[in-house]
Amino acid sequence: DAADLHARIRAAKAALGDRVVILGHFYQRDEVVQHADFLGDSFQLANAAQTVPNAETIVFCGVHFMAETADILARPGQDVILPNLAAGCSMADMADEDSVEECWAQLEELYGTEADAEGRVPIIPVTYMNSSAALKAFCGRHGGIVCTSSNAETVLEWAFERGQRVLFFPDQHLGRNTAKKMGVPLERMPMWNPRKPLGGNTADDLTDARVVLWHGFCSVHKRFTVEQVEKARADRPGVRVIVHPECPMPVVDAADEAGSTDYIRKAVAAAIEPTTFAIGTEINMVNRLAAEYPQHEIFCLDPVVCPCSTMYRIHPGYLAWVLEELVAERKPNVIRVPERVAADARVALDRMLAAKP
Ligand code: 13P
Ligand code: SF4
Repeated sequence: DAADLHARIRAAKAALGDRVVILGHFYQRDEVVQHADFLGDSFQLANAAQTVPNAETIVFCGVHFMAETADILARPGQDVILPNLAAGCSMADMADEDSVEECWAQLEELYGTEADAEGRVPIIPVTYMNSSAALKAFCGRHGGIVCTSSNAETVLEWAFERGQRVLFFPDQHLGRNTAKKMGVPLERMPMWNPRKPLGGNTADDLTDARVVLWHGFCSVHKRFTVEQVEKARADRPGVRVIVHPECPMPVVDAADEAGSTDYIRKAVAAAIEPTTFAIGTEINMVNRLAAEYPQHEIFCLDPVVCPCSTMYRIHPGYLAWVLEELVAERKPNVIRVPERVAADARVALDRMLAAKP
């Protein structure tokens, strides 16, 4: 039963001591979060992977692209374990290397490869953290960079200093919301559709583009609607609506604020007066905030439960299993990015870490 599982996890952790560190994303379920040594958003976890002391093994309670990133940034000899290999991310799967390469070749043909008078190259690739290591490596090879939802604006500024335009993948919503906030008009953000030549755009749409968006989205955050925001305002006058920037643009526009999971946590933590918050992000995090801050009324904008099904695949049973295997000197579920990919991906990740907000 659950108590038994927790006892097993605690016992194995105690036996392993500081040989193992457990990292957890805010979207993990409570039964997993209670065993994490560090909890964070995807940016903080990428940083933590680099700074964990002498642990030989990082057990990463999150999704596959996060564990890959941890492996790329971890020190040599340090292994990263994902307790359930089926914990992927449907958004990350929406951009594969071949399609991005194909798009890139067409854009290079259209824009050429000459820098302008200010030395800005025609296009810079920017990948959201929620992507495969191969796409981070693509960015590393082509003068590009990685971003997370907490530093997307800083990263786009970095890219616009060096490039006339940006190809942003895989999340169309984070790309659109961030570029809009920075004053880029919607007509200068055409969306690429890999199934058609020139992405179904005309050369004119693309020539004038400032940001070329990919078609990816998060299936959890795309469920939030403007109607839900309006209903929250009607039901709870004075409500503060905060959503994640993976939500569609009309939802972000209708909300009071948008920010990463860490931004949302900090906004709630900083509220002095009892406040009603309607939050547009994953349900495990919203419920945990509600339990942590009983002085506030905190609810999820989506009345039908809204979990990230792949984050949820890290069941405490898997955590107990991998820890016990480590005690038995075995290492299951190691995530190892081939060094040739990791080296290029590290370039793009290091640029992001250096450009941090
Ligand atoms: P952040 O942790 O950057 O807020 O991203 C949320 C998310 O969807 C992770 O998959
Ligand atoms: Fe991927 Fe969305 Fe889940 Fe984040 S919340 S891991 S973007 S499916």
